[in-house]
Amino acid sequence: MLERIDELTKAAAAELDAVADAAGLEQYRIKYLGSKGAVKGLMGLIKEVPGEMKREFGQRANAARAAVEEAFKQKQAALGDNGGAAKAQGPLLDITEPGLPPVMGRRHVITQTIDELVEVFARMGFDVATGPEVEDDYHNFVALNIPETHPARDPLDNFYLNGEDRASASMSVEGDTAQLLRSQTSTVQIRVMEHTQPPIRVISTGRVYRPDEHDATHYSMFHQVEGLYVDKGVSMVDLKTTLVQFAKAMFGPDADVKLVPSYFPFTEPSAELYVKMDVGKGVEWIEIGGCGMVDPAVFGHVGYDPEVWSGFAFGLGIERLAMRKHGIQDIRWLFENDVRFLRQF
Ligand code: DAH
Repeated sequence: MLERIDELTKAAAAELDAVADAAGLEQYRIKYLGSKGAVKGLMGLIKEVPGEMKREFGQRANAARAAVEEAFKQKQAALGDNGGAAKAQGPLLDITEPGLPPVMGRRHVITQTIDELVEVFARMGFDVATGPEVEDDYHNFVALNIPETHPARDPLDNFYLNGEDRASASMSVEGDTAQLLRSQTSTVQIRVMEHTQPPIRVISTGRVYRPDEHDATHYSMFHQVEGLYVDKGVSMVDLKTTLVQFAKAMFGPDADVKLVPSYFPFTEPSAELYVKMDVGKGVEWIEIGGCGMVDPAVFGHVGYDPEVWSGFAFGLGIERLAMRKHGIQDIRWLFENDVRFLRQF
């Protein structure tokens, strides 16, 4: 029995000597050190060893296993194959692999549209102003000549912040002001005129809020660009020229646009700007905003003399501008934050 141990150690040593590559070494490992290998087999023999020899056999078999294992490791090192260890630590770094491209962010298509329209109006001499999204009744309605009975002030059509009761109460209590999420950027006209003397040429962009049912062209939050021009002798021709020039600069010289008579409490006369576009039902005229000559009553609220000053104003929906420009057929896609959609712009 004890000879079997020596035989195995010798055979293993001779065979290991002959191993020349990693594949040979692996075969050797399976033959001698594998779970069904010769060393295991040797250990199994202990059952057959007579009792008084079991101890010695065991010790020598263990020593033989240690020797075979050690020789294997040395050979492995000599062949430069530290396979097992390297695998355990994960793959080696391959610096010749192409790197992972950094994931670049981008501006949302609405932000891009805002940047572009600011640029267009800047070329026409318009400055940029900002105003708060949480507004008071006065700037959103009163100063814009929107009477208390006007449907635009209906609590159901606005996001009042201090509750419906408070909103309707404030209409009768003098000096008290309801707060709301502004429903239009026309508020900024008032804020600018309150602290500036004419001549004024300004635009303002930002979010507005209305509890509208969501569909292809409506969303409860959207963006507007407001424009205000106040000077001596401003006419409807200036307004029309400005808006048509703007539309051609945004959409290209062939863009179809038209002004249609309309009504707003803060302009007289008033009009709506329409652009031909496809929002899913074929090409049709879509309203993209309102405009008009500033009503003398509005000048009265900010202390301008309407006998001296005249002006025009407009407010356009930025989502609709972006939709016309990029052929987007549903406003809701703009706010789903699906990067597969947004990456296209
Ligand atoms: N504020 C109006 C709206 O949201 C749009 C508008 C109409 C703005 C006429 C104006 C204007 O400045 O003169 O429906």
